[in-house]
Amino acid sequence: MKPTIYDVARRARVSTATVSRALNGTSAVASQTRERIDRAVRALGYRPNVVARSLVTKVTHTIALLLPDITNPFFPDLVKGVQTLADERGYTVLLCSVAGDASREEEYLEMLSAKQVDGALLVGLVCGHQTIARFARHGIPIVSLDRNIDYPRAPIVQVNHRKGARVATEYLLELGHRGVAHISGPIGLRVSQERLAGYREALNKAGIGYDPGLVVSGNFTEEAGYTGIEALLEAATAFTAVFAANDLAAIGATAALKDRGHRVPEDVSVVGFDDIRLAAYTSPPLTTIRQPTYEMGRRATELLIDAIHSRGSIRRIQPVVFDGELIVRASSARLVTAQLAGAV
Ligand code: RIB
Repeated sequence: MKPTIYDVARRARVSTATVSRALNGTSAVASQTRERIDRAVRALGYRPNVVARSLVTKVTHTIALLLPDITNPFFPDLVKGVQTLADERGYTVLLCSVAGDASREEEYLEMLSAKQVDGALLVGLVCGHQTIARFARHGIPIVSLDRNIDYPRAPIVQVNHRKGARVATEYLLELGHRGVAHISGPIGLRVSQERLAGYREALNKAGIGYDPGLVVSGNFTEEAGYTGIEALLEAATAFTAVFAANDLAAIGATAALKDRGHRVPEDVSVVGFDDIRLAAYTSPPLTTIRQPTYEMGRRATELLIDAIHSRGSIRRIQPVVFDGELIVRASSARLVTAQLAGAV
């Protein structure tokens, strides 16, 4: 038979209410009494029923992490950062993949409020402000991570998407490239708009006019990178470099260029964004903008748990914005005259 709270109370010669107060921390218990209870718990091997405890304390020590796409290799390091910090602070993480579907997001938010999670990390939800506000009205702290959501009251932890894209494009311009194409992320997302803006800022700063014919819409997948290059080649736009809004699209773009007989980087330089683990092992290894993904996951979780512990006195927290880092590898190279003649 598993030991119960009654066994602990009997052994420690206190009431079950005193045991409950001592274990849930809901009110002060004399130190000697607390020590007797702890000794009884250890001797009996008693493990509190966390569901029953949450009904008393209204605390589940569980936080939710809602992600748009768990198949994208950018997210595992983000989850790892969330998980390690949550472990350190005694929290369980409930991972939900909502696939960028607003109705699915709404269902999950309703389920999470019913489960009384203590807090939620939201990555790039596409549902509207009202849906998120309804969830927040349950008094559940929210922190936004990586991609913006339509709930400005929530603190956000993210990389500087616009600056990272600008640095990537400036790097290609410094290599002498003038025809720099861009494969965007899902253009309805602010993260994609910010990266497109950074690309345009770099061109503008270099005195190069914006040519919409050099920009193709993508969705952060290899397939979109591949078909994006096919579309650029079909349209016969002259380019010697490509900045893709994420590494998967850059990998797809590289495959399309090579399938059409173009060499990377000898004919076309390619740069991505994220620095997923695979980026160092592609052929050729990918030049990209490294996101501090693991650190962002930890920092967002730290903010959330601090908000949980300071429940009710949540002060307005400024956005936490990290800088990306340019990681130069073999997929990019200086423009050579031959390329100008044979610009793809
Ligand atoms: O690769 C997936 C992209 O979506 C990353 O750039 C990350 O920022 C996420 O939002």
